[in-house]
Amino acid sequence: MKVIVVKTYDEMSREAFSVMKEVVTANPRAVLGLATGSTPIGLYQNMIADHEKNGTSYRGISTVNLDEYAGLDVTSDQSYIYFMRHNLFDHIDVKPENTHIENGKAADRQAECDRYNALLEELPRDIQVLGIGSNGHIAFNEPGTPFGSVTHIVDLTESTIKDNSRMFASIDEVPRQAFTMGLKNIMNAKKILILANGANKAKAVYGLVRGEVTEKVPASILQLHPDCTLICDEAAASLL
Ligand code: PGA
Repeated sequence: MKVIVVKTYDEMSREAFSVMKEVVTANPRAVLGLATGSTPIGLYQNMIADHEKNGTSYRGISTVNLDEYAGLDVTSDQSYIYFMRHNLFDHIDVKPENTHIENGKAADRQAECDRYNALLEELPRDIQVLGIGSNGHIAFNEPGTPFGSVTHIVDLTESTIKDNSRMFASIDEVPRQAFTMGLKNIMNAKKILILANGANKAKAVYGLVRGEVTEKVPASILQLHPDCTLICDEAAASLL
C-alpha cells in the first residue's frame, strides 16, 4: 500500500484530486467508484472547481456508489443519492443516467442486491474512492463481514449509528440498515484511493496499514490490493 501523509484536510483533498484527475484524463469513459461521508467532500469540491475552471468533462464517465441507507431515497436529504447530487453530480456534466447507487426504497431487497452485483460486473471500476469508519469499516462493511461478501443488506453497528447521527436531527432518525457493496466488490476495482483525516481515525488507519489482515478490521483487506493508495493527515497517521 502506498501511504501519503499530509498536514491538512485541504492538502489531502488536493492530493486525492490529482489521483482522480489522472484517471479521468487517461480514460474519459472511466468508471468511478464513489463514496459519501464528510471525508471525500473536499475531493468533490476540487473536481467541481476543476470542471468549472478547466472544463474537465464527465460526459462519458460512469459512477457507482458504495452504499445507501435502506428506506431512504432522493426525497430524503439524508440519503446518499441526495448527498451525491448535492455535493457533486449537480455541479459537473456527468449524465444522471450514468450515475448508479443502490435503491434504498427497493421493495425486494435481495433482488436489488442482485441487480447491483450484476451492474458492478458490467461496469468494472477504474478507481474506487473510500473513507474509513472509526471501527475500521469500509462502505457499510462492519467488523466481521466476510472478505468474500458482495452487495448485501447490513444491520449498522451502534458505533456507526452514533458516528452518523451527527448528520441527523436525532440518533433515532438514523436508519438501522443499509445496502452496501461487499468487500469482494470493493477489491475488484483496479485502483483504490482511501482517505482519512482526524485523530478519531488513527486506530482504524493503523489497522488498515499495519494491523493483521482480519475480518475484524474490514479495511485490512486492502493490504492485499495490488494498487491501493492511502492519503491521510498527520492526526489520522499518528499511530503509524
Ligand atoms: P466520514 O465516514 O467520511 O463521514 O468520516 C467515513 C466512513 O464511515 O466510511
